[in-house]
Amino acid sequence: MGELNDRLAGLLVAARTRTLGLVAPFDDAVLRRQHDPLMSPLVWDLAHVANYEDLWLVRALGASPTPSGAEAVDELYDAFRNPRSARERLPLLSRAQARAYGDAVRERALELLAEADLSPDNPDPLLAHGYVHQMVVQHEEQHDETMLAAIQLLPVEERHRFSAMAPPPGRPLSSTEVRVPGGTSVMGTDHPWAYDNEKPAHEVELEPFWIDTAPVTNEDYALFIEEGGYQDRRLWTEAGWEWRQEAGLQAPLFWRRAGETWLRVRFGNIEEVPPGEPVQHVCWYEADAYARWAGKRLPTEAEWERAARWDLLSGRAHTWPWGEEPPTTAHANLGQGLLRPAPVGAYPLGESPMGCHQMIGDVWEWTASDFEPYPGFRAFPYDEYSAVFFGDQYKVLRGGSWATHPVACRTTFRNWDLPIRRQIFAGFRCARDDR
Ligand code: AVJ
Ligand code: FE
Repeated sequence: MGELNDRLAGLLVAARTRTLGLVAPFDDAVLRRQHDPLMSPLVWDLAHVANYEDLWLVRALGASPTPSGAEAVDELYDAFRNPRSARERLPLLSRAQARAYGDAVRERALELLAEADLSPDNPDPLLAHGYVHQMVVQHEEQHDETMLAAIQLLPVEERHRFSAMAPPPGRPLSSTEVRVPGGTSVMGTDHPWAYDNEKPAHEVELEPFWIDTAPVTNEDYALFIEEGGYQDRRLWTEAGWEWRQEAGLQAPLFWRRAGETWLRVRFGNIEEVPPGEPVQHVCWYEADAYARWAGKRLPTEAEWERAARWDLLSGRAHTWPWGEEPPTTAHANLGQGLLRPAPVGAYPLGESPMGCHQMIGDVWEWTASDFEPYPGFRAFPYDEYSAVFFGDQYKVLRGGSWATHPVACRTTFRNWDLPIRRQIFAGFRCARDDR
């Protein structure tokens, strides 16, 4: 019908191409297996994205359910009725069945999209601005990142070397930290495509603080290990130390010691840990302990957002650290093209007005903050996207990783996870009080 309809159809197609590319290298047994109690079998994600699309782009728009070949398909692929640890035991659709179901849903979703009125004044809030279509696109892209994290957990010999470009070279930054003046800035957004948890835009008042211009690198982190960070009880919170003991944490996930050097396993490669890349695969407890060791702390998410997008000169918040222009490969490491973080200093064009680098892409950054609603939060279009997760059991991550698609990434995007989670592509940067 319109340009927006075409654009959304294109995004849906691109997401599916990515999804199918992720499962293509693996045989059915690998897709069916659960590789970690915190992750789903890959074949679950495959049918789950199809079922989500059937719920939101077909049924929610008035059409009848798409036949799936399974009896209780909604129940099987409802993330709440089936915790990740239980998914392997379910009578899941096979890869071929999941694909057929996904194709059937997609055909109907595209037919309905072609005829849909996505104008801003459509009284149906699902259709106005194409909200529900971009929600489904973001959903599939987010699951693709989760699938990559599951693939990275396969035994080395089963992992696949997806094709990847070489990262741009790192460059020294002019300073390691910047002082962010205190004052008022805007947090959150009213953008029609934002998730409910990013809304509404509101003012926050902050004390001045210092924040690192770059994420903590592998080299930095190796020093923390070498200087006994994992042995020093005083650096850890009580819960963090308990988990450190119980899980036997000693280094980031996928790191191995080889004499004097650290090696890492990354998608079928065993390689030396590159010193200049942001560290990834550390949990919140490790990030928090490192920050204390460095005499610093994790930034709150309000601080992170002010450092990422607030422009003191214009008194305005940008969508991206560099302004309003959508991300290109010159701005940030997103969308899986590199299959790894890029070294610090690789994206001078991505610098924020405050002077911070690589806030978008490379690694998700753990913040000090619990996942809580903003003042004036309204759940939309369903409670289970964000509302049921609010509280102190989840920590907020910001900025997206190298595996995050640009549609599911922006300076206001809020991700959240358990403080023990290490298999996601997460690192952190440090901050400190202005004293
Ligand atoms: C925003 C990444 C925490 O994976 O649990 C996927 C995204 N929501 N399906 C998750 C999501 C529903 C969510 N995270
Ligand atoms: Fe989902």
